[in-house]
Amino acid sequence: MKFFVDTADTAEIGALAASGLLDGVTTNPSLIAKSGRRILDVIAEICRLVPGPVSAEVAATEFDAMMKEAAVLREIAPNVAVKVPLTPDGLRTCKALSAQGTMVNVTLCFSANQALLAAKAGATFVSPFVGRLDDIGQDGMELIADIMTIFNNYPDLKTEVLVASVRHPIHVLTAAKLGAHVATLPPAVLRQLFHHPLTDKGLAAFLADWAKTGQTIA
Ligand code: G3P
Repeated sequence: MKFFVDTADTAEIGALAASGLLDGVTTNPSLIAKSGRRILDVIAEICRLVPGPVSAEVAATEFDAMMKEAAVLREIAPNVAVKVPLTPDGLRTCKALSAQGTMVNVTLCFSANQALLAAKAGATFVSPFVGRLDDIGQDGMELIADIMTIFNNYPDLKTEVLVASVRHPIHVLTAAKLGAHVATLPPAVLRQLFHHPLTDKGLAAFLADWAKTGQTIA
């Protein structure tokens, strides 16, 4: 399973990339706004920090305008994945960009049928938002289960399921059990995955015992 980080904060991205466990980055207009920076600058910096796919979202909603914005975004670096909304124009843009060999992430997916459309449009990634479904009293992970069932029924569909709007480690665990290809995580959730109280306790005990030996290894 690939781990992407869902942020436009380059300090966070740099720190997490140092772990060697970061496979890509996703951003959206809200995250760019939060960064307070120009989209072209921040995406270029992220692409230098992380060699994997970096999603940069168009702001236009009409096909021609989305294609124009996509042309600018994909020029930033070869690892840019152009992010388009799951609308008729977004899917048309996805189809055209995919045919040109550009990576596309279709975002704002809230149903399995929408995911199927994105796959048919040749999306590299489709992003179902699990947390926002949970927020309105639906089970976001049921959507992932449905999409995985459908995609497994049609092995010719090459689109990767990118679980987005992740709120906590249980989302990650369930997505992995379902075989989702990617999860994009807020930095805090990615950091949570590393920790367990018994790891901390065990390490403290090992270090205390080691100190008693008076030995060094290197
Ligand atoms: O980047 C898309 C998605 O991960 C947004 O998450 O927390 O705003 O629902 P959230």
